[in-house]
Amino acid sequence: AGPKEPRQASWSFEGPFGKFDQAQVQRGYKVYREVCAACHSMSLLSFRNLGQKSGPFYDDKYPNPNDNPYVKSIAKDYQVNDIDSETGDVVQRTATSADTFPSPFANEAAARASNGGALPPDLSVMIKARPQGAQYVYSILTGYQAPPAGLEVPPNQYYNPYMPGDVSAFYKGKGHVPVGGFIAMAPPLEADKVTFDDGTKSTLDQQAKDVVAFLAWASEPKQTERKQFGVAAMIYLLIFAGLLWVSYRRIWRNVA
Ligand code: HEM
Repeated sequence: AGPKEPRQASWSFEGPFGKFDQAQVQRGYKVYREVCAACHSMSLLSFRNLGQKSGPFYDDKYPNPNDNPYVKSIAKDYQVNDIDSETGDVVQRTATSADTFPSPFANEAAARASNGGALPPDLSVMIKARPQGAQYVYSILTGYQAPPAGLEVPPNQYYNPYMPGDVSAFYKGKGHVPVGGFIAMAPPLEADKVTFDDGTKSTLDQQAKDVVAFLAWASEPKQTERKQFGVAAMIYLLIFAGLLWVSYRRIWRNVA
C-alpha cells in the first residue's frame, strides 16, 4: 500500500497573494538550527540569505544583508571547510555570511555511520523536491505513530504512514498491509523541544508548521517578490488590454 495522503494544513505563503509570515519563518529557523541542523545540511542556503528581503532576519536598517549584525553572528557560530590558498590543504575556518549551512558530518560515510546507515538529505530545496512538499514534510514530522499490530519494524527504522514505501514484507498481521513506510529518522520533534522567543506555545504541531514555513522560504526565498511582481504585471496587462481595445475602436471607427 502506498503512503497516506498528506495532512492538509493552510499556509500563509499559498496562493497568488500569499507571503511568508516573518515571525513564523524566524521560529522555523530556530527549529532548524536547534534540531534539524544536527543532521541535515542546507548547502544552497547562505547565511546572508537570512537577512535579505522577506527573509527571517531582514531588517530595513541593513538593506545589504552582509551588514546585518544578527546574520553575521549566526555565521560566526559555524566552522566551515576551506582550501588554504598557499598550501592547498583543507582547513577549517569560521564561516562568514557568504558561506552556506554546512553538513554537521565530515563526509557521507560519517553521516551514514551516525544514522544507522541512512543519509540525512540536504534540506535546501526539500519542499520543492517532494510532491506537495509543505504538506508532506509537515505530515512526516507530525505523523509518526506506533506500528500497527503485526508489523515488525527493522532496526534503526521508524514507522510513518506518510512515508512512501512498501512494508508488506514486514507485515505478519491479518488483513490489509498498513499504509506508509519506514523512515530512518527518529521522530525529531516533541512538545517544548524549542523555546520560541516570541512566546508562541511550543507544541509539536507548531514546531512542525514553523519549520516547514522556514524550509518553504529557503526553497524559494524570492517567492514573495515573485508573487508581488506577478500581481503588478497582471494589473499592467489588464490596463494595457483596455487601452488597446479603445484605440482599436478609434482607429477603425470610420471603416464601414
Ligand atoms: C530524512 C526533515 C531532523 C536524520 C528526512 C527527510 C526530511 C527530513 C524531509 C526526507 C524524507 C524523505 O526522504 O522523503 C527533517 C526535519 C528535521 C529533521 C524538518 C527537524 C525538525 C533530523 C535529525 C536527524 C535526522 C535531528 C538525526 C538525528 C534523518 C535521516 C533521514 C532523514 C537519517 C533519512 C531517512 C531515510 O532515508 O529513511 N528528514 N529532519 N533528521 N532525516 Fe531528518
